[in-house]
Amino acid sequence: MLAAEGREVILEYRNSDVFSDISRILLLYAQNSRNLFTRELTLMTKNIRTPILVWGDLISKSRPVVRRSLVGERAHECMYAWVYLTDYLVVKRISKALEGHAGERSSFFGKLKSFASDRNIDPHFQHNLEAWTLAGVVAKFISLNEGPIEVAELGQTFFSLKTKVEVLSQAYPSKSQLQWTGIDNSPFAVEVAKTLHGESKEIAYFDDWRKFQRFDASQTAIFTSRFVSSYAFENSDDFVLFLKKHQFELVVLEEPFNACNGELLTFNHGLPICYFDMKKVSAFALANDYEIEIVDWYPDNPAKSGRCLNTKMVLRKKATNQVDDFSAVSADLMLSHAHTEVSDDFSVALLLDQISPARWREVDRYKFANPVWSKTPIDMQKTTFVSWMRNIVTETLLRWKSGLIFITLRGKNVRAELLRHVSESRRE
Ligand SMILES: C[S@@+](CC[C@H](N)C(=O)[O-])C[C@H]1O[C@@H](n2cnc3c(N)ncnc32)[C@H](O)[C@@H]1O
Repeated sequence: MLAAEGREVILEYRNSDVFSDISRILLLYAQNSRNLFTRELTLMTKNIRTPILVWGDLISKSRPVVRRSLVGERAHECMYAWVYLTDYLVVKRISKALEGHAGERSSFFGKLKSFASDRNIDPHFQHNLEAWTLAGVVAKFISLNEGPIEVAELGQTFFSLKTKVEVLSQAYPSKSQLQWTGIDNSPFAVEVAKTLHGESKEIAYFDDWRKFQRFDASQTAIFTSRFVSSYAFENSDDFVLFLKKHQFELVVLEEPFNACNGELLTFNHGLPICYFDMKKVSAFALANDYEIEIVDWYPDNPAKSGRCLNTKMVLRKKATNQVDDFSAVSADLMLSHAHTEVSDDFSVALLLDQISPARWREVDRYKFANPVWSKTPIDMQKTTFVSWMRNIVTETLLRWKSGLIFITLRGKNVRAELLRHVSESRRE
């Protein structure tokens, strides 16, 4: 299976005539180009995304067969259905494994850690312990507060957050009645979420943040978003106005912030994205009686969209119960996070000071090869001429041995997945 997003994956087909439908469209628009995606596909206007999913078989010593291809929203949803359903299923398996776990908090988290990193539970790459941090913060807040609590997630997809919070309620018990709101512009995601979680008056869905309404404005409310607000809101002002309008008691974010003062309007996945202005968000928070905690952050530059700081940020109304800070959730999860205290004169410069120019260069280089959101490994191996040559030789040999000789794949994910498959099948 080959999945291509915009220009991030480069495929070179030599036996172009054997491809049907979509492949021909791609070739048509790449006519005079050495690589298929080095030019804008003319079916796209500049920087507006056309997701493409081509599924078929690479056959040893024979021509590849394209069996199905999807373009546009369907391609996106087909690919992400697998990714997020995998994630949801892992959470369900963990939930089952931890059912009725009556032990100490530390042994609960020990078990969670071992399940979350067990590849037999998650044979795919999607799940990891890091993905429990936001749910941990939400679950802990719920356990510290009483009465009905509303939790709204922008981009809930299949609402694995809800299931994670339910699992974590064993460690952070609560008597509060919970009401959930998903805000997702994908009718497919909403339909799946309804199927998985059932329809009841405790769960509401909206397709746009502009239509969002609280169950009851007098209740405690939480807002959370993971890499969706930065796409959904056109700029930092709109985002801050939304937060101001709804006066959530807790805001839990994992979003990119601009890597210098101000905001950065850019494109990622071919979609407009705003790397928020850290100063605007923190100024809003401080003026509206929130405490700010940066639970974790790391420098990133996905698909060369621009340097940003991916930040797990918690805004908490000072009036709400607070027994300890949310970095304690990282400790419970046994994750070492780059926790940062935020004071009144907080600015992104505080974080930037901690990133050396060499580290930025490392991030830029890593993201060129691996354009998805993620931490760049700290001790990244430097590519030497010898290791570069060794890679080329290994790859050529593998391709020659496996018969995949007429396809060159660029883009680290695609090539790594293909080579993994080839080397694993050779071991069988
Ligand atoms: C990055 S995923 C978030 C997944 C999940 N919440 C998590 O934390 O793993 C993106 C989700 O946001 C939705 N989405 C993207 N843009 C949106 C927008 N402008 N408004 C609402 N939902 C959006 C997508 O349909 C998708 O379900």
